[in-house]
Amino acid sequence: MSSTEPKILSIDTSCDETAAAVTSGLKILSNVIASQVKTHAKFGGVEPGVARREHQKLINPVIQESLKQAKIGMEGIEAIAVTQGPGLAIALEVGIEKAKELAQKFQKPLIAVNHMEGHLLSPFAQDHKGERGISYPKFLALGLLVSGGHTELVLMKDFGKYELVGQTLDDAAGECFDKVARILELGYPGGPALSKMAQAGNDGAFRFPIPLKWSEDLNFSFSGLKTAALYLSQKLGDINSEVKADFAASFEKAAVAHLVDKLTKAAVKFKPKMILIGGGVINNQRLQREVKEGMAYLSIPVHLAFENDLLTDNAAMIGISANFKFQREEFVKDPEKLERIPNLSF
Ligand code: KG4
Ligand code: ZN
Repeated sequence: MSSTEPKILSIDTSCDETAAAVTSGLKILSNVIASQVKTHAKFGGVEPGVARREHQKLINPVIQESLKQAKIGMEGIEAIAVTQGPGLAIALEVGIEKAKELAQKFQKPLIAVNHMEGHLLSPFAQDHKGERGISYPKFLALGLLVSGGHTELVLMKDFGKYELVGQTLDDAAGECFDKVARILELGYPGGPALSKMAQAGNDGAFRFPIPLKWSEDLNFSFSGLKTAALYLSQKLGDINSEVKADFAASFEKAAVAHLVDKLTKAAVKFKPKMILIGGGVINNQRLQREVKEGMAYLSIPVHLAFENDLLTDNAAMIGISANFKFQREEFVKDPEKLERIPNLSF
């Protein structure tokens, strides 16, 4: 167990993606994601019971595929890692049970990972050749994590040393994108559709208030934007695709401005040496651009994962986090007793 580049099989079933990956140190050997998006689309959101059944159906084939793509058998795996939380309780359970079963059957150490630490460390992921990814980390680092369930600002003093300094007081940013997309009848999950539509729109057409602009604290709030969108859509009634694009662009402008405003306040306060960004909403091009521009102004480098599959939910990021835990020998002491923590925090 002294490998410096341990080969780890990781599993994530925290929400609606069944994911397994094999990593070697920070190198990604495989990253398999079976999305249940189409199954949940008819419900207009994630149905926990349905997610659990889908995870149960998909978990074995996804793990087999991740081993196959990495060209490795269980004998070559040095540890099993699994997401312990945060996430949907009955979805998390599927991955945890499978990880326990494999750890027991093949006598491998088990590593429990915080899904949000996975998003935070995703910029450290390297491709299979050991290229890409952050080569010289500098601390203090500041993380901005923006996903469907979380919106967080995290200070990172070192690997394993984190402090949550800001979070949403109500809805998560991704949730808000999804709800506004639903108001505009853009389908589920609406974030990607809304941001695509926004590209053709005039972002000055409608005025959305930037939440908590005058507050110096580092928390977020997205429920006001959602309500503003609902009132505006009621006022406008039936709208054509041109007005929808203007609506989407105006909303996106305010949502991104809110995220960048709080990130900037945190950066000015803590003077980090690098910024790490992760989570599904980071796929948003306007957000990426404005974060980079804003931080360039403060001369702070911004790092994000080298491919989009590492931004949305995946198991490779769990492997990256597990790699550092392996180095610190942070293994689960009693694997049989490992339990999900749906509201696990930093
Ligand atoms: O990190 P993630 O895959 O899952 C969670 O852990 O929640 O994030 C999913 C969220 C969804 O709300 C989705 O609509 C949003 O990320 N998202 C986007 C974009 N791509 C994905 N939101 C805005 N713009 C995008 N381009
Ligand atoms: Zn996530």
